[in-house]
Amino acid sequence: MSKPRLLIFDTTLRDGEQSPGAAMTREEKMRIARQLERLRVDVIEAGFAAASTGDFESIRAIAETIKESTVCSLARANEKDVRRAGEAIQPAARGRIHTFIATSPIHMEKKLRMQPDEVVAAAVQAVQWALEYTDDVEFSAEDAVRSEFDFLCRVFDAVIRAGAKTINVPDTVGYSIPVQWGERMRALIEHVPNSDRVVWSTHCHNDLGMAAANSLAAVLNGARQVECTINGLGERAGNASLEEIVMAVRTRQDLFPVETRIDAAQIVPTSRLVSQITGYVVQPNKAIVGANAFAHESGIHQDGVLKHRETYEIMRAEDVGWHANKLSLGKLSGRNAFRTKLAELGIALASEEALNAAFAKFKELADKKREIFDEDLQALVSDEGVTPEIEHYKLVASLFHSETGEAPVAELTLSVGGAERHARATGSGPVDAAFLAIESIAGSGSDLLLYSVNAITTGTDAQGEVTVRLSKSGRIVNGQGADTDIIVASAKAYLNALNKLYAGPERVNPQL
Ligand code: KIV
Ligand code: ZN
Repeated sequence: MSKPRLLIFDTTLRDGEQSPGAAMTREEKMRIARQLERLRVDVIEAGFAAASTGDFESIRAIAETIKESTVCSLARANEKDVRRAGEAIQPAARGRIHTFIATSPIHMEKKLRMQPDEVVAAAVQAVQWALEYTDDVEFSAEDAVRSEFDFLCRVFDAVIRAGAKTINVPDTVGYSIPVQWGERMRALIEHVPNSDRVVWSTHCHNDLGMAAANSLAAVLNGARQVECTINGLGERAGNASLEEIVMAVRTRQDLFPVETRIDAAQIVPTSRLVSQITGYVVQPNKAIVGANAFAHESGIHQDGVLKHRETYEIMRAEDVGWHANKLSLGKLSGRNAFRTKLAELGIALASEEALNAAFAKFKELADKKREIFDEDLQALVSDEGVTPEIEHYKLVASLFHSETGEAPVAELTLSVGGAERHARATGSGPVDAAFLAIESIAGSGSDLLLYSVNAITTGTDAQGEVTVRLSKSGRIVNGQGADTDIIVASAKAYLNALNKLYAGPERVNPQL
């Protein structure tokens, strides 16, 4: 007999996007949403509709496209937010509104400046407004971890009576430890009237490194939904990571009384896509999705694994999608094969021109690189601009010179809003020279916060994938670029970041 379902609520596109510089374009969000659907998550929190027009449109576009997962928008407990969320999810096959208000003394007094009675009334009213749009309404008590237990029970009782179907208990500040969090979930389910009519959910942040452990403790004590993100992306130290929750439940079926419907083989491809789009590189020793997660270095371990895999392995790498980087296409592949492969990867290019441009790039790459993998194609389309409308700055041509004893030189031709501009600069290295040449044209005055290079696949002919993080007037953006020449990849990444600064919409942080 099968076990009850543990619902996986993915908030990569909302809480994950609240990581500094992880803001995504609509097309990027759509690619991630499609991949999340393929991963078979139950709920996709697609954004916070009232934050900006861009957020609203992204949620709506995702709601129009996604059929197999519920599409959800976050909303603060006020009429404008809830109605905006309701309009955004309107086209969804299954749409949810997730409304929240803070319930801890410190948040109510210092942030909301509201009395507890007013908070209860606002929560109930928000649920009632949300029910005008969908019967799938989730309520969260922000900072539940520092909320008084009796007050929390009172709020939850009131919103359940009002019609909320999911009750989410967040550790907003990542303060709890597993034994305490499990106990809180158990006590809430025991004390809140009609608790059996709703799904209990947990949402944990990782400030003390315990988000996944806390979430799992909640599951052992009755939670039937976990809110999590791919690679643990999220505010500050991040959220509970989806891959850790899913694989813990799956690997320890002897302990967990639940199952998920996740297709685990899609975990690594999803992790890579999110990392590539956000520029948040996965640390090599990260559980499940880190490059070393299944690598055995010591002789004793290698010997053990060769003799009998289970001596040191509790999961199989292939079960979570490692080694799934199939050889995609080759030099002789045609335009139709290219289009079909992109569709398989969930990539929809904006127009025929974008497809033609991406195909030309693919042919160029195939000339330089013998084997082209799925990851190469993902990088190629991010790089080629599935979002041509924000390609204000574009690399047209480049020449780099570096010689022992001489200052490296970069000569670049850029297209800036359609007009060609040329610049030459020297720097402490060729990357530095390239960035100085770009700045001499763009004059953005932004600060470089991060520069990182990774090989997309193995081999010396692999493409280098570069992430550049820029900050300007309090805004932080990540740019990515990929090329077999890492100096060119660096210049592309810098230009991609400049394009995001140039185009980026202003957003509101829902937790402010
Ligand atoms: O961390 C938090 O409390 C949240 C809520 C909006 C659910 O993200
Ligand atoms: Zn959160």
